[in-house]
Amino acid sequence: MKALVLSGGKGTRLRPLTHTMAKQLVPVAGRPILGYVMSHIAEARIREVGVIISPETGEDVKAYLKDGSEWGIRTTYILQDSPLGLAHAVLTAREFLQDSDFVMYLGDNLLSYGVKDAVERFLEDRPDALIFLKEVEDPQRFGVAELDEQGRIIRLIEKPPEPPSNLALVGVYIFSPHIHEAISRIRPSQRGELEITDAIQEMINMGYTVKSEILDGWWLDTGKKDDLLEANTIVLDEYIKRSIRGKVDGSSQIVGRVEIEEGAEVLNSIVRGPVKICRDARIENSFIGPYTTVGESVTIRDSAIEHSVILNNSKVEGIERLEDSLIGRSSTVLRNQKMHKALRLMIGDDTVVEV
Ligand code: DAU
Repeated sequence: MKALVLSGGKGTRLRPLTHTMAKQLVPVAGRPILGYVMSHIAEARIREVGVIISPETGEDVKAYLKDGSEWGIRTTYILQDSPLGLAHAVLTAREFLQDSDFVMYLGDNLLSYGVKDAVERFLEDRPDALIFLKEVEDPQRFGVAELDEQGRIIRLIEKPPEPPSNLALVGVYIFSPHIHEAISRIRPSQRGELEITDAIQEMINMGYTVKSEILDGWWLDTGKKDDLLEANTIVLDEYIKRSIRGKVDGSSQIVGRVEIEEGAEVLNSIVRGPVKICRDARIENSFIGPYTTVGESVTIRDSAIEHSVILNNSKVEGIERLEDSLIGRSSTVLRNQKMHKALRLMIGDDTVVEV
């Protein structure tokens, strides 16, 4: 069994953060989404991992994953010149995949339980494809499945304007090599992409066994939700354990599940978990409340922050109360010390500021 991780694409949906960053590298609870994906693949004891990359963000993806040894896997990078669809990505990876079974994992999808048990079930039952479904509120934004009364798939449709059910296709699939035959028979969709949904439908038409399971646990399509704060909250709830490896001075108080990484410093402050404070961050005279992630080398001084994500190298100073906020990399939020009531803003594209 191999794995194919899709980390190419355009990444325009998480603007403004992904104007400059591959959406699969956006950190959730201080860790890039791709990091969770690789851990899930390693847990399923898969070692050979092909990673689809794009010309725009491929170098950043490589710089993060390297040879995969951090996860005990071996990465092979496969360049997809333009984002012509998920099935086109499989076609591009044909040489790497050869005639292996494989897990295909979309690099912007986060699942609570990973794929270990599913891979075992696939190897026992040997269907030609195993797909996962989850009820969603907005099925028209996903691939959608229509099932019969016994729960067998009748058909699969990509982003239907009038969805026949609210069961979305999750971005993790397990395939036998018969998927390649199906891909060679499909044509690009209206949006000009070779759709994996159409290829799976083609497998059904060809008489291959396609099994579906309703997914247990949570699933986040971070590329779509446009809500990193929600992803951050769920992941902090799930993963954070109390672990203090940074420095905390005697006049600080750390309450509950708080993770403080090496090199971070907490001085004269209160931190109430679940909270993650990443490497080399510095918290001074501040309150950090539940569901907050403080990125690497961030400085927070004389401020109170709750339910927020502050990405790497940013600075927050003298802010009485910051809530429900997402601060991009290398940004500064400062209290104006002068008395007049003017706001001074330097704001990137597609940004929302509430004053
Ligand atoms: O997340 C689940 C959904 O993912 C499914 O319900 C849909 O059936 C499936 O088509 C897919 O829809 P999206 O519109 O969310 O796919 P997106 O274009 O966002 O691409 C998903 C990932 O694959 C993303 O990490 C970028 C990468 N990608 C995408 C394309 C189109 C590639 O590597 N190459 C590509 O050509």
